[in-house]
Amino acid sequence: MTTNVPTVLVMGIKGGVGKTILSNNISRLLAKSKKVGIIDMDLDSSNLSRVMDITETMKLNKSRKFIPVHVIDNKLKLFSMGIFTNSGPQSYSRTGDQNRILIQQALDNTEWGGDIDLFLLDQPAGSGDEFRATIENFTNIHGAVIATQPTTSDDLYRCFDLTSRFFIPILGVIQNMHGAVCECGCKVVCKKCNKPYFPLGTESPVEEMCTEWGVPYMGAIPMIPKLKESPIIKHPYNKPIKNIVKMILDTMEE
Ligand SMILES: Nc1ncnc2c1ncn2[C@@H]1O[C@H](COP(=O)(O)OP(=O)(O)O)[C@@H](O)[C@H]1O
Ligand SMILES: [Mg+2]
Ligand SMILES: [Zn+2]
Repeated sequence: MTTNVPTVLVMGIKGGVGKTILSNNISRLLAKSKKVGIIDMDLDSSNLSRVMDITETMKLNKSRKFIPVHVIDNKLKLFSMGIFTNSGPQSYSRTGDQNRILIQQALDNTEWGGDIDLFLLDQPAGSGDEFRATIENFTNIHGAVIATQPTTSDDLYRCFDLTSRFFIPILGVIQNMHGAVCECGCKVVCKKCNKPYFPLGTESPVEEMCTEWGVPYMGAIPMIPKLKESPIIKHPYNKPIKNIVKMILDTMEE
């Protein structure tokens, strides 16, 4: 069974760029005006439930369908295989076919309630089976949010190339870990030269590449200490999150 519910992918092809942190933040803001289903597509190393601070497990109803966890009642529901057993991190070595079946289960065998306005999919690294299963099962892909770092242009190029090959519109690019802030939230500036500190380098190709490809650039988020413990990106560094949520909502209304 496929779904025609508008679907937004949070993707990056590369691992560790912040897709999951962004998915959490975007879903919570979207849930203020939409009924959102968020799905952890990273089946091998799922960490979305931990990032969302969910300790509850996903249960089965009487007809043995998964009940997604209600993160915010009637607003935000989470499906993650990572919280089916909730026995902490485990290693998995499934085949692509097994992962495809699990992704189908998130649709076919899950009690979403029939009133979800939008699915947000936290994509894993890579562009193989999980990505293929995504486009096969979610037939109304509204667009992609791309998470990237200022380090290399290769992964961003791959995202542009992949989405264009599959006719997925890019809703916006968020540059993560560009610059740094200290524990109290102020910009880290060099004492000697007075310039802001960019741990991954000042020279970033991201904005220029977005201009070149005609893709909306949503802004940069600095490295924020303790984001691991409280993964909510706060003012003023949440501007790219607000921008992308506005873009999702505006384009859904068109
Ligand atoms: N802006 C940031 N500042 C500091 N740490 C971050 C930031 N963004 C992500 N991280 C950390 O980087 C790691 C990878 O983030 P994650 O969202 O899991 O990436 P991905 O889903 O792309 O693999 C996590 O430990 C996360 O806490
Ligand atoms: Mg992730
Ligand atoms: Zn400070």
